[in-house]
Amino acid sequence: MTTSHQFGGQWTDDKLDRLRKYLDAYRTIFTKNPRAAKLRTTFVDAFAGTGYRQSIKAAPTRTLPLLLDDLPVYEDEATLFQQGSARVALETNPPFDHYLFIERNPTYIAELEQLRQQFPTIARRIRIVQGEANATLQDWCRRTDWRTNRAVVFLDPYGMEVEWATIEAIANTQAIDLWVLFPLGQAVNRVLTRSGPPEGGWADRLTKFFGTTDWKDAFYRPSSQMNLFGEETQLEKGATFEQIGAFFLQRLATIFPKVADNPLYLRNRKNVPIYLLCFAAANKKGSPTAVRIARDILGT
Ligand SMILES: C[S@@+](CC[C@H](N)C(=O)[O-])C[C@H]1O[C@@H](n2cnc3c(N)ncnc32)[C@H](O)[C@@H]1O
Repeated sequence: MTTSHQFGGQWTDDKLDRLRKYLDAYRTIFTKNPRAAKLRTTFVDAFAGTGYRQSIKAAPTRTLPLLLDDLPVYEDEATLFQQGSARVALETNPPFDHYLFIERNPTYIAELEQLRQQFPTIARRIRIVQGEANATLQDWCRRTDWRTNRAVVFLDPYGMEVEWATIEAIANTQAIDLWVLFPLGQAVNRVLTRSGPPEGGWADRLTKFFGTTDWKDAFYRPSSQMNLFGEETQLEKGATFEQIGAFFLQRLATIFPKVADNPLYLRNRKNVPIYLLCFAAANKKGSPTAVRIARDILGT
């Protein structure tokens, strides 16, 4: 644990507690149910980090630059090394048959290699891939034999790094339960500028993220204003946090058989909803049970 990996706040523990509960419930079902027990299960952490989170007491909240490629740390609330999602997953009891950790930062990859050594009994089940999450995950979804495999995928980016094509690839497997962090206040709401819809690269990024250009009509409405030359109609932002979140859930519902309708709002100390923790199940037969469990976990 030599590398600094600072992110999140109290809401991060909240998020990981829900994930932990779901992973334990999932593996219990797949162990006890004789038919399900024949299937191999994988946990995929596509934005794996280091396996821990370093938080610094009373670190000041930083103003986020509007640079989507480098959405930084939010705010920290204690001085501790806390568990990250990879470690939480490795502690799942009973364990998964396979673990796939994807991370693009080579220093974090070295930390994940060290984490593997701390779990010698399941070390051989852990695959660590240095790569870009979208490309690696889409490739893995295509190559896996979904007749004999099932998986839980956790998408925990800083900002808008997840592409809709990746979410589609996950849904197409008809075999994956998806936990995804939607960067509501952290990124999407910031990009949706008040004065009018973003254009150029920002607009393309939103379209790649939502998998449609419909976000423009969903989040902006015409408004008439008088100026020197008479009345002029412009588009102005009309969407609330709730409407932006609901739009993402509707998008998920177009490709997954079932989506939990009670995503968890993760709020910073100023009560701004920075992320929405969402759940969707891709396997038609298993989705009612999966979503019932996820709903309970999200609602507690
Ligand atoms: C919020 S952190 C993940 C935290 C982790 N899930 C945990 O609980 O400890 C996001 C991670 O994704 C990595 N990352 C960002 N963009 C990526 C990409 N396109 N492909 C792969 N990894 C990426 C970052 O290096 C960072 O470690």
